[in-house]
Amino acid sequence: MMDQNHVHPIDDEISFDEYDEIINPKSEDNDFDAVVERAISRRGFLSGVLAMGSVVAVAGATTALTPLSAQAATRRFGFEGVAANTMDDITVPKGYNAQVVSRWGDALFSEAPDFDETTRGTGESQALAVGDNNDGMSIFADGDRKIMVLNNEYTNRKIIWGNNPDGKALTDDDVIKGKNAHGLTVAEVKDIDGKWQIVKDSPVNRRVTPDTPMEITGPAAGHDLMKTAADPTGTKTLGTWNNCGNGETPWGTYLACEENFNGYFSAANEDHKVSDELKRYGVSAKDWGYGWARVDERFDVSKHPNEPNRAGYVVELDPRDPNSTPKKRTALGRFKHENAEVVVNADGRIVVYMGDDERGEFLYKYVSDGVYAEGGDTDDLLTNGTLYAAKFDDTGSGRWMALTPETTGMDKAEICIHTRQAASKVGATTMDRPEWVAVNPLKAEVYCALTNNKNRGIKPNAGGDPTPVGGPNPREANKYGQIVRWRPADGDHTVEEFSWDLFVMAGNPTVHSDANAGSENLNAGNMFNSPDGLMFDQKGLLWIQTDGNYSNKDDFAGMGNNQMLVGDPATGEIRRFLVGPNEAEITGMAWSPDRKTLFVGVQHPGERGNSHWPNGGDTVPRSAVVAIRRDDGAVIG
Ligand code: FEO
Ligand code: CA
Ligand code: CA
Repeated sequence: MMDQNHVHPIDDEISFDEYDEIINPKSEDNDFDAVVERAISRRGFLSGVLAMGSVVAVAGATTALTPLSAQAATRRFGFEGVAANTMDDITVPKGYNAQVVSRWGDALFSEAPDFDETTRGTGESQALAVGDNNDGMSIFADGDRKIMVLNNEYTNRKIIWGNNPDGKALTDDDVIKGKNAHGLTVAEVKDIDGKWQIVKDSPVNRRVTPDTPMEITGPAAGHDLMKTAADPTGTKTLGTWNNCGNGETPWGTYLACEENFNGYFSAANEDHKVSDELKRYGVSAKDWGYGWARVDERFDVSKHPNEPNRAGYVVELDPRDPNSTPKKRTALGRFKHENAEVVVNADGRIVVYMGDDERGEFLYKYVSDGVYAEGGDTDDLLTNGTLYAAKFDDTGSGRWMALTPETTGMDKAEICIHTRQAASKVGATTMDRPEWVAVNPLKAEVYCALTNNKNRGIKPNAGGDPTPVGGPNPREANKYGQIVRWRPADGDHTVEEFSWDLFVMAGNPTVHSDANAGSENLNAGNMFNSPDGLMFDQKGLLWIQTDGNYSNKDDFAGMGNNQMLVGDPATGEIRRFLVGPNEAEITGMAWSPDRKTLFVGVQHPGERGNSHWPNGGDTVPRSAVVAIRRDDGAVIG
């Protein structure tokens, strides 16, 4: 096994999850051996689980689509699928074009230098430039102005410190540069002479970093667990980091979701033992290689054990006011947030669907107490409400379990701080790493990417909850992932009952003939692994982005680089739209207000040293946003 003293995820040899397990091993569990043995025959799986009225559920053969539905789907897609490939480039369909809009390190202000290929910037320059590893993003209209907001999730040590031997931080400023590459980027973008670009010095341009003052709101605000030496009130905190997916509210604000916040804390004494509560969230005496405690003592968990309780939330940002104070919305719970999909229920209440991306963690929703009124005060809507965690049965129905003092024995603040523990108490279903959630704009139907889970049926989650094979997590040691969807009873997003099925089970039908071949809407021409980003367009087509294995061999032979696909919920058809450059994931998307441009995020090209995208030659690989348009200028999606 790997030597934990010499392994860090940002060395890019292993994933965050794998590192988490190495430094914070979970106990073995033998209780569900019998469940593991419930091997699923492919046919049995399909008749049982893919049963909610789509074409894919009807037939047993691998060509399930009728010619009629295939033709209809073709018209809806509006593009010819692209082939899997391993080129160090962006591939889009014939009749489409892609153009780089912004890259890590591009200056937001004229006082900042251009990106320096040799030094890769300084702490100071990075604070004035686009952050690294862009993930979730939105485009907001403000009059004629278009404002792009990006999450800058993390950094790759060998890239950001690639100017140093072994990609190590040598100086404090190296660490500060890395820290300042995290957070959010807010930038005006403009189409000038047919090329989207950042408007330097726009009054809306802003960097939000791990040091930006923020307000803590909701039930956890002021609780003893939130108080630190620097903030005895437990209501003011500094910064946000590891922002993964995002969300948008109907009132025009941006939601940044804090995911692997734990990986930034460490202790000077490596033998320091953290509390069980912190351990559930993966906090330990070792960070993941970022070294922030070296320059900022609050990241030393032995000295400031409550500091990690102030991260792991959804942060609300007003993109139009660069002086606004972002708000941590503790009412939406604390976990490794992927994205926050907001929907206004028919009765006006706000419902937010959210995944907790770790093996065997849960799927959540939040329902506001108050109702949304356009132009009204919205502050209460993400402050007072109820959290629920999803419980799926094996046969296609499920229930949202309310997390309340009565159901959990925890008070409201504790539920919002130790949300994972609360969900464990109500017996929520342990999931295969819930990533993005997306709500179909045409009907009350919700989709969630369950990206993969090598522990499914093998070991329990971090809280000791068993992870039996079954329901929406039907494959042991799930290596390909699936997309689950559910329909709330009566089309009401606030009710507890729902029905569910799987929209697609990813896999490789050219290698496997069992359940690992995937569901029937998957074939040699559209196969993929590890669905992650999900978003609907206004036509009701589901855009799917992947963050998976790009080895293009063995179990993943023929899948090529990470990619973006489009699925049709009505027919089950899935078609590949885009292939990314080498060693990148595709994550984050947003449409221009006229829907003629689709902005797509490319994260961590060359994370293992084998890409020079986007600039080519010998240049440093840089995460970037690309703008995709049709050559004929028509709308996309
Ligand atoms: Fe940041 Fe779960 O991906
Ligand atoms: Ca993701
Ligand atoms: Ca990811």
